[in-house]
Amino acid sequence: MALTKLTVNGKVYSVDVDPNMPLLWAIRDVIGLKGTKFGCGMAQCGACTVHLNGTPVRSCSTPVSVVKTQKITTIEGIGTPDHLHAVQQAWIEEQVPQCGYCQSGQIMSAVALLKQKPNPSDEDIDTYMQGNICRCGTYQRIRSAIHKASGLLQEKKPVKTTPAPVGK
Ligand code: FES
Ligand code: FES
Repeated sequence: MALTKLTVNGKVYSVDVDPNMPLLWAIRDVIGLKGTKFGCGMAQCGACTVHLNGTPVRSCSTPVSVVKTQKITTIEGIGTPDHLHAVQQAWIEEQVPQCGYCQSGQIMSAVALLKQKPNPSDEDIDTYMQGNICRCGTYQRIRSAIHKASGLLQEKKPVKTTPAPVGK
C-alpha cells in the first residue's frame, strides 16, 4: 500500500492503495464514484473510460501508479445536475441508453471526440467510438446524439436540464 494523491473532477483525494491497483477500483471502491463501470477488465469494452488530462483511457487497465499528477475526469465531472454537458443533454434527447451499462464510457469517449473534432462525420464517429461496445446495440442513436451534441456545442447554447423521470 502507498499513500497517493489523485485529483478527480477537480478535488484532491489521498488514497492508500497498492500502486498496481487499477484506477477503476480506486475511483469506484476507494473514492466512491460509481458512475464509471466495470465491463471486461481487459481494455476491450470501454465501459470504464475516464479522462486523464482530457485523454480517454481505460481505467480497468490503468494502474494508479501511472496517473501521478494528471487530472482525472469521470462521468460525474463533466456536467452538473443544473448544467448538463451538451453530450449528456443530447443523450437524453436522443434517448440513447437501453440498459445503460456502457453509457458512461460512451459519453466520456464522445466528449473527447468532440474536443478533438467538433464536427465529426459518421465515419469519424464510428472510427473513434469503435472501442466502446454496447451489447444493446445503441450505435445508431449514439451517432445521432453525437451529431446533436456537436450542434449544441457549436451554437454554444446554454444547456438546460431535463428533469429525471419520476421514480428513477
Ligand atoms: S472494463 Fe475497461 S475496457 Fe472493459
Ligand atoms: S445500453 Fe446496454 S450495453 Fe449499451
